[in-house]
Amino acid sequence: MFKDLFVTKPVEPAAHVDAGEPVEGTLQGEANLKRVLTARHLVLLGVGAIIGAGIFVMTGQAAANHAGPAIMLSFVLAGIACAFAGLCYAEFASMIPVSGSAYSYTYATLGEAVAWFVGWSLVLEYLFAASAVAVGWSAYTVSLMESTAQMMGSDWKFPAMFVSAPVTYANGQFAATGSLFNLPAVLIVCGVGYLCYIGIRQSATANAVIVAVKVTVILALIGFGSQYVNPDNWTPFIPANEGGDRFGWPGVLRAASIVFFAYIGFDAVSTAAQEAKNPQRDMPIGILGSLVVCTILYIVVAAILTGMLPYTQLGTAKPVATALENYPALGWLKFAIEVGAVAGLTSVILVMLMGQPRIFFAMSRDGLMPRFFGAVHPKHHTPHKATVVVAIIAAILAAFFPLGVLGDLVSMGTLLAFATVCVGVLILRRTRPDLPRSFRVPAAPLICILGALSCLALVGFMGWYNWALLAAWTAVGFLIYFGYGYGHSKLRRARG
Ligand code: ALA
Repeated sequence: MFKDLFVTKPVEPAAHVDAGEPVEGTLQGEANLKRVLTARHLVLLGVGAIIGAGIFVMTGQAAANHAGPAIMLSFVLAGIACAFAGLCYAEFASMIPVSGSAYSYTYATLGEAVAWFVGWSLVLEYLFAASAVAVGWSAYTVSLMESTAQMMGSDWKFPAMFVSAPVTYANGQFAATGSLFNLPAVLIVCGVGYLCYIGIRQSATANAVIVAVKVTVILALIGFGSQYVNPDNWTPFIPANEGGDRFGWPGVLRAASIVFFAYIGFDAVSTAAQEAKNPQRDMPIGILGSLVVCTILYIVVAAILTGMLPYTQLGTAKPVATALENYPALGWLKFAIEVGAVAGLTSVILVMLMGQPRIFFAMSRDGLMPRFFGAVHPKHHTPHKATVVVAIIAAILAAFFPLGVLGDLVSMGTLLAFATVCVGVLILRRTRPDLPRSFRVPAAPLICILGALSCLALVGFMGWYNWALLAAWTAVGFLIYFGYGYGHSKLRRARG
């Protein structure tokens, strides 16, 4: 009944692209966006997407409940899986510099049905991550506003009705919070959505400023915090297992699957490939450069946090601030870190909200999503209609859902996309060995297979409820595919 479910999209070799030169996309049917981004922009875009709630929020719980000081090791393990996937993304993004990222790569290698599955999983990554991080942003911002008021001698509090989602999710149960909806989270999504609407050049410039702020406060934490490290806090390095995934090696692996969230975002660089001036050279620099910078920062920050304070005391919503609170001499740095966290989370939301419409854009150009999502603004050259829809949905999710529920789904969708990209590199090497590859994954079969396996292993270390949520999400996706995309696919129609 369903013929050509695995039809693949033909790939043409990418024309060499010089700075500033507009080029056609290299997948059949891709349209132009404006090419304005340089290698520096792309590294900043990556760092902007990567450093966020993972390091500022999740590290503390992962150390306190699962890994102890060995959270450093968890960061290394998650970083290795991301490095494998990053190499594979670099090969694809420099060879097929289009905006659809893993979705487009899969369409060219594993066929339309799998491409749809990946594109649908990427919605979990980008759209849900934008909402999840907006919820974290809201908590930091409210805290910053209240402590600023306190410094000025006022006991002003943010109105409790608008401070969070109406429910929280903890220990397997939902509980009412007494709040109506998360107003700050809605406002930040709308503000950042507007930046994405008016154009990627403006968005990338705003991103560069924010990245500078957050990297500066992290370097300050490393510089000043290192003077207060007590090496005794690093012993025992891997606390003895207390059952399940509480400490011991199972805990280190579970923590790796949690802090994986902290690395998400380097792949978002690939969604800007169609707007890069020289994608063949600059995509690998952007993807791998931002990954290397963040991996080093994360391992050092994890060492400093667990060195400054016993890991048992780090399980708060603001572990970095918690570590600093114990050293009155560093009070000024705590305030700066809170400002940096607010800025850092903003840039993550920015890159996520920039990436999602570009994936919808690519899917729409292929006929798998309505044409509406493929519209490009005549003046701003952005996929403006898709941007508006994505921002509205992200704002609604951020208003009414707690961080835990959203965050669980983000890592899952991302890991599946990463694993598929790793397999895709191998397949395209076989099916199209002729394509010019300006960047090649070294020791390809080994690295690609290790990449896919390590991503699937990280999925395996997560709770069963993630699998249930993912199954439901995928089922909805395939209903949409067979209800709309299958019948409208341009590729299948062209083949008759
Ligand atoms: N890596 C991003 C963060 O940590 C998603 O917030």
